[in-house]
Amino acid sequence: MSAGPARYAVAGNPVAHSQSPFIHAQFAAQTGQDLVYERLLCPLDAFLPAVQAYAASGAKGCNVTVPFKFEAFAAAGRRSPRAELAGAVNTLRFDGRGWWGDNTDGLGLVRDIQANADQPLAGLRVLLLGAGGASAGVLGSLIAARPAELTLANRSADKALALVLSHARWAQEHGVRLQASTLEDLPEDRFDVLINGTSASLSGAAVPVRGQVLRAGGLGVDMMYGPQAQGFLDWVAAQGAQPRDGLGMLVEQAAEAFQLWRGVRPDTAPVLAELRARLSTKG
Ligand code: ATR
Repeated sequence: MSAGPARYAVAGNPVAHSQSPFIHAQFAAQTGQDLVYERLLCPLDAFLPAVQAYAASGAKGCNVTVPFKFEAFAAAGRRSPRAELAGAVNTLRFDGRGWWGDNTDGLGLVRDIQANADQPLAGLRVLLLGAGGASAGVLGSLIAARPAELTLANRSADKALALVLSHARWAQEHGVRLQASTLEDLPEDRFDVLINGTSASLSGAAVPVRGQVLRAGGLGVDMMYGPQAQGFLDWVAAQGAQPRDGLGMLVEQAAEAFQLWRGVRPDTAPVLAELRARLSTKG
């Protein structure tokens, strides 16, 4: 049934513009792994049957993207500690004994910041904007990088507080001061690193905080990439800080999933460079 190359996919809605097939094809070529990576468009009301059918066809696993990461969490029979902490799953491995669920988003973000942008997080003051799925997926890994202070700011205070409470013990274990804030109550001119996990730009809204919260010379990272990230990146540059989009995070989270599936770690640098070139030539 599963003769031929091992099959994987990105499951989401939409998936047409996903860069994951390109990234995983590059990883496979680089590491000599015999696999194909497809797109699995799941109906909005039928994620589970779509993925069940895919698994039954002999596929080995899938990445899960918007809007199904919470459904994937519920569908996984066994989950990694980081997926438990996030309450969301972005990587499924179809094992004989059921589905293993993991979340590689946070490690992808942290690795991109620390290894690719060369910005160690330990001891710094970090601000994470947003308390939706994107922020929930990365908060645990950000804490594990041991910044001195991590502030989670959100438009609705109750959601920020809920996320902080669910990570309070993890933060305590890592010696990190974790606190919730509204967007208006943030102190000025103090954060070394600002990460945008809001979807404000999708609705054309401005960056939802005052410029002074990011120190000049700091780093401002958007979890999105392409035209949607541009407003935030321009705003970061205008503060005299270094802008970084979410492409590196995308490649790094993919590498972590690839390793989980295949047991081999690909080299991300050439793939990130190729992806940037590919997207810029596409305009
Ligand atoms: P995702 O899975 O992409 O994180 P989400 O769960 O809908 O999507 O979360 C979107 C996040 O962006 C939320 O934190 C949301 O703030 P609220 O919790 O107050 O709704 C935030 N967000 C969206 N539009 C925003 C805007 N115009 N200004 C500020 N925050 C915004």
